[in-house]
Amino acid sequence: MRIDVVSLFPDFIDQAAAVGVVGRARERGLLTMQGWNPRDYADGNYRRVDDRPFGGGPGMVMLIEPLRAALAAARAADPAPVRVIYMSPQGRPLTQAKVRELAALPRLVLLCGRYEGVDERLLQTEIDEELSIGDYVLSGGELAAAVVVDAVARLQDGALGDAESAVQDSFEGDGLLDCPHYTRPVEHEMGRVPDVLLSGNHAEIAKWRRQQSLVRTLERRPDLIDEGALGKADRRLLAA
Ligand code: ADE
Repeated sequence: MRIDVVSLFPDFIDQAAAVGVVGRARERGLLTMQGWNPRDYADGNYRRVDDRPFGGGPGMVMLIEPLRAALAAARAADPAPVRVIYMSPQGRPLTQAKVRELAALPRLVLLCGRYEGVDERLLQTEIDEELSIGDYVLSGGELAAAVVVDAVARLQDGALGDAESAVQDSFEGDGLLDCPHYTRPVEHEMGRVPDVLLSGNHAEIAKWRRQQSLVRTLERRPDLIDEGALGKADRRLLAA
């Protein structure tokens, strides 16, 4: 997969995506990235990329032309069909289901805004989709783009080893939060590993994990669970 990022700080995302699973995915050629700086496409001595908003008010708005040129260069860098996404708090929320959808595409272009935002006409014309990583405001789209890159990169075939398998993650499959995990030592001043995990009884372990996921999800994220739609087995686990 190829991800192009249009940003005034392309190095930031490049470095955020240089370590760990994502860094390895790039080293293995599972993910190619390139940054495009709208300032490189801006005119004049000052290479201006923003201007004051019509109608007044605080902050600056990113100009159409430098962004359009940077986006055109990014689009032209590869012939595969591309989805162009603008990172913004006004976007639809990024979910694991959306991450799965994006991870299956051959190409993404992520557009990062700064200042108060981007001229709406560019968004109307050039953008396929607007995505938010949560109900809070960042000072720019770069961190949000790095989140998309990370979440999408780890789902590329071969990015995760067996030990890191994605299928049991939170939000995957059943849409529940992940269960707790333990490793050595069994006994520690902070507590003991639950006996069931040491039992070797795989059916019991699976049941315990399911129960923990259900309880956690109900406690922390009741919005993720439709209690009425739970099966008999799950209801029994919750009652236990
Ligand atoms: N840019 C600023 N805040 C953002 C957010 N919450 N999600 C995506 N992009 C953003």
